[in-house]
Amino acid sequence: MNKGNDDTSYAMNSTVQWEIISFGKTIIEEALLRLSSSTDIKSMGIADLGCSSGPNTLSVISEIMDVVRATCGHLGRPVPEFRLYLNDLYSNDFNYLFMSLPAFYKRLKEEKDIAVASHCFISGVPGSFYGRLFPTNTLHLVYFFSSLHWLSQVPVGLESYALEHLNKGKVYISKSSPQSVLNAYSMQFQADFSGFMKSSQELVPGGRMVLSFLGRNSIDPAAAEACYQWELLAKALMSLVKEGLIEEEKLDSFNTP
Ligand SMILES: C[S@@+](CC[C@H](N)C(=O)[O-])C[C@H]1O[C@@H](n2cnc3c(N)ncnc32)[C@H](O)[C@@H]1O
Repeated sequence: MNKGNDDTSYAMNSTVQWEIISFGKTIIEEALLRLSSSTDIKSMGIADLGCSSGPNTLSVISEIMDVVRATCGHLGRPVPEFRLYLNDLYSNDFNYLFMSLPAFYKRLKEEKDIAVASHCFISGVPGSFYGRLFPTNTLHLVYFFSSLHWLSQVPVGLESYALEHLNKGKVYISKSSPQSVLNAYSMQFQADFSGFMKSSQELVPGGRMVLSFLGRNSIDPAAAEACYQWELLAKALMSLVKEGLIEEEKLDSFNTP
């Protein structure tokens, strides 16, 4: 994602992802209700995996704290301390995220209460969520918003250094892609997702995971609902090739993970 907060940054272009988060909020709330009412948690570990560097990640945290606070108040239990882990790839703009923290803590103190604000410990965890990020039994709640559809790598056989370019003029699965391209994406997804599902030892027993990522209703992997934006991008890149601004070889060799 683009760094900082200028016009082309993720921070200034993440309202669609905020809409997606809004759809998933009730599921997070349900997970928190079950967690908070099942045991008396003293220190709640929560991880946003693929948090990026926009405002969405801190807004979700703020809403989570509201739900936990309300639930604990209802049950007559003390509010736990919050260990909040913000994860993304090493290249993520963590500086931008950390620079937003003073204003965030100030708002917490003003709008919630000082005790809650001083029991909120936020840290950055750089690395891929396809590998181990946390010690065993660290987390009570883990959530992914608009991040888990990214594969761990470009599918095997479609890498830029492959001897033959199988998906010429395209950057993702497309109506005109050969079956070998569809198979490569499918195999990479299955390898990544099944590996990911096996790595749940980072959660405490009874911990909750909320996954929200792109899907499709059609069984056709090249259906417009799943691929349209990538078709448009490929067309735009192709017109740059025709104008001589991009080498055709570069477009032919590129496939998005
Ligand atoms: C579209 S952004 C979503 C950000 C945020 N969750 C939101 O809803 O606004 C997707 C993020 O997932 C991150 N991501 C993709 N693959 C990842 C991986 N393997 N490990 C950690 N983060 C990853 C990207 O770097 C990017 O910042």
